[in-house]
Amino acid sequence: MHKSQTPTLITWPWSFTFLSVLAVSFLWPSFPIFPFTLLHSATPSIRNSPRMAITKSAFQATRITPSTFLVKEHNDIFSERPHIYVKVIPSAGTVLVIDTGTGGKSNDNDVEVTSLRQFIETVEVADNDHRPLNEGGKMKYVVVTTHCHYDHILGLEDFADSVILASGHSKAFLSPDRIQEHSLANALNIKIPQYTPKFVPHGHVITSPTHPRTSLNITLLHTPGHTPDSLAIYDVNEMMLFVGDSFYEHDEIIFPSEGSIVKWFESVDYLMTFVTERNEKAQSRRDSRAEEVLVSSGHRTAAQPAMQVLSGTKAFMEDVIQGRESIKGRLKVRGEVNLVYEQAGGRFSLRCPERLIKESRRRI
Ligand SMILES: *[C@@H]1O[C@H](CO)[C@@H](O)[C@H](O)[C@H]1NC(C)=O
Repeated sequence: MHKSQTPTLITWPWSFTFLSVLAVSFLWPSFPIFPFTLLHSATPSIRNSPRMAITKSAFQATRITPSTFLVKEHNDIFSERPHIYVKVIPSAGTVLVIDTGTGGKSNDNDVEVTSLRQFIETVEVADNDHRPLNEGGKMKYVVVTTHCHYDHILGLEDFADSVILASGHSKAFLSPDRIQEHSLANALNIKIPQYTPKFVPHGHVITSPTHPRTSLNITLLHTPGHTPDSLAIYDVNEMMLFVGDSFYEHDEIIFPSEGSIVKWFESVDYLMTFVTERNEKAQSRRDSRAEEVLVSSGHRTAAQPAMQVLSGTKAFMEDVIQGRESIKGRLKVRGEVNLVYEQAGGRFSLRCPERLIKESRRRI
C-alpha cells in the first residue's frame, strides 16, 4: 500500500468513506484507525499485566503461531500500518524478521521506542510471557524483504550488521541508482536507508547465520507482479506463507507503475499449486497438527486460510480484467492514470495504473 502518494484527481466520494470509518471506529473500539480508539484498546492490557513496563512503542506484537509474532506499526505517519513478522527460532539461535516497516515514524510524539530492533530486544510482549522477543539481542538476525517499497524497508538501518535477503529475480530493479525511485521514496520526498541485500534465487532455503549447515526450513519464492522483486516466504514447519503486498483483504491492493498484472496472475497460479500440494500432503498425514497452509500479508491479513484468500483475490482480479467490476474512482499517481475498483462488501479492492489493466486484457 502506498496511500501517501498525492492523488490529483478523484471521483470516489471520499468524504463518505471518511464518515463511515469515523462511525465504525466509534462503534467498534478495537478498530485501529484513530488514536482515541487505540487508547481504548490499550487500557485492558495495562490493567491486566502489572509487571508490564509501560513503554510507549511505535509497535505492537501479537503471537500468530507458536514461534511467530505479528509486529504491527499502528499509527505511522504514512497511514500504511505495515505488518512486520518476527519468527523466533531458539534452536538455531536465530530471529527471522520479515520486513521492517516505516522506521517507527509515528504520529504519536510520546512514543519512546521507534527502533524496531530496540522493540524486539527490550520491550516486554504479553504474548511472549512478558519478555522481549529477543531479550538483550542474544540471537542473530536474518532479515527478508518481501519487496523494496519504503513502508517495508525504512527500518532496515537497525540491521546493518545482519544478513538481508532480497529477491534475485531482477537485480537491476534493486540497483542502488534506482532503489530511491522504485521504493517510492522519491514520490514522498524521503530518503531510504542504504542497504546491500544478498540476492536469493527462487527456492532458496534459509540457513542459520551462525550455523550455515542448519536449515531454518524457510523457503523463499520469487512471486513477481506487485513489483518485480516480490518475494513469498514459506515456513515449512508451521505451514505459514508470507506474501508481502501481493494480496491482502479489506484494503486496497495497489500496483505501482513498475508492477505487472500479467506476472501477478502467473505468481498467484504458482502459489495456488504450491498451497494445494501442501494442503493435500497435510490432509494425508493423520498426525499433523497444522491442517492447511495459512497466509500472512504485508497489511491487514494475518494467519488466514491461504487457499481461500488466494482464490478470492484471483476471482476479484478476473472480474476486474473481464469488466465485471465497475470503476469506482480515477486518480493520477506518479504521472499515470490509476483506476480504483472495490468489490461489493469491500473484501477486495484495487488501485492500479489503467495501463496494466489494458495490458492484462490483451492477454485474455
Ligand atoms: C527443520 O525440519 C526438520 C525436519 O522436520 C527438523 O528436524 C528440524 O529441527 C527443523 N529445523 C528447525 C530449525 O526448525
